[in-house]
Amino acid sequence: MADKKAQLIIEGAAPVELPVLSGTVGPDVIDVRGLTSTGRFTFDPGFMSTASCESKITYIDGDKGILLHRGYPIEQLAEHSDYLETCYLLLNGELPTAEQKSKFFETIKNHTMVHEQLKSFLNGFRRDSHPMAIMVGIVGALSAFYHDSLDINNPKHREVSAHRLVAKMPTIAAMVYKYSMGQPIMYPRNDLNYAENFLHMMFNTPAEIKPISPVLAKAMDRIFILHADHEQNASTSTVRLAGSSGANPFACIAAGIAALWGPAHGGANEAVLTMLEEIGSVENIEKFVAKAKDKNDPFKLMGFGHRVYKNFDPRAKVMKQTCDEVLAELGINDPQLELAMKLEEIARNDPYFVERNLYPNVDFYSGIILKAIGIPTSMFTVIFALARTVGWISHWKEMLSGPYKIGRPRQLYTGYAQRDYNPLDKR
Ligand code: CMC
Repeated sequence: MADKKAQLIIEGAAPVELPVLSGTVGPDVIDVRGLTSTGRFTFDPGFMSTASCESKITYIDGDKGILLHRGYPIEQLAEHSDYLETCYLLLNGELPTAEQKSKFFETIKNHTMVHEQLKSFLNGFRRDSHPMAIMVGIVGALSAFYHDSLDINNPKHREVSAHRLVAKMPTIAAMVYKYSMGQPIMYPRNDLNYAENFLHMMFNTPAEIKPISPVLAKAMDRIFILHADHEQNASTSTVRLAGSSGANPFACIAAGIAALWGPAHGGANEAVLTMLEEIGSVENIEKFVAKAKDKNDPFKLMGFGHRVYKNFDPRAKVMKQTCDEVLAELGINDPQLELAMKLEEIARNDPYFVERNLYPNVDFYSGIILKAIGIPTSMFTVIFALARTVGWISHWKEMLSGPYKIGRPRQLYTGYAQRDYNPLDKR
């Protein structure tokens, strides 16, 4: 893998020869590990130029708008696969045979319930807590309930924890929603598929069990597929970093959920709707677009732009199609959705956005779909977390299955050099 070399010339020092590594596809990377022996480090805040690990799970070409999971384009998975099959692919590296698929589905179904005592955790939270705050707490608390799968050095334990997380996230997410509504928690139904079961636990009540719309279940499943993994983003890197210290999988996923919460990452789908509320009506769009372009104003158009995709977000393309399907199915005539479509049109034609390749991202459309389905804004990032759990746990498993080191970045120190303590009466 390393047949090329790079040479680093540092003024006043001997040149340093560094190996250049090549992946299957994508740019070569300079292996700077040898630099430590020279007493120097690289400086790369935001990791714009740093590959933090080797991985076989997901490949992104941001310039071409390509996203592959285990080699399969996201568009093909969204069209032909389903979320649980995609989970199997991410976790195991290959699409399952018919037998493997039905066994995997059965296994996941066997883990959908959560320990009954977990319900009492909810009561400790205010009803108006942000659902992500509760998610971080409850998912972290799973490690207090499932002691039989916490040995991170045991591949069987790692697998069982992965299955538990994939199976229980919809149950926990729906429990959190029901708690905020003051409604009784709905138990999972194993006769339904993954997305149907989630919608059942979200929207049905013991007093009224309504059938789940196949169009909405399919849209939900697509949202799950499109959010399943996205290589080394902030939350996945957080999971890997937490996992590199030997922390248990539930604690690592709780760390990932916390990292996802921010509006620059998973919180963007919620931020899109909050922004639309703030804009209020079509007449105000121009004013807000001007704010987004103003360098002295911190306001950004939420749901536009991406760190990696500088052409278009391939997930957004599929999501837009699903968005159209859902809006047609529900016959929705919501002024906020109309506002979103107008904003999209204006931003896509404005030279500021065009020149900077700021396209609507996956969160722009997913926010609109989730709103149309009837999911409250505060639950949007929870749904992202639910879907991304399989990606996080796949990366965690991959890291633990090979040699790895505790993640420990260095720093460029610009604080005081050593100085003596100054007594209080002399300050
Ligand atoms: N609205 C207005 N201007 C923007 C926006 C935006 N949404 N995004 C980027 N820019 C400008 C930015 O000010 C900069 O301008 P200039 O070159 O004149 O200084 C230029 O575009 C390049 O942006 P950047 O900040 O260097 O890009 P980045 O890669 O550091 O940030 C981002 C990417 C996603 C954090 C950013 O585009 C953003 O904050 N977008 C809004 C939040 C959002 O929708 N996030 C969800 C991402 S998709 C879900 C996920 O994968 O987590």
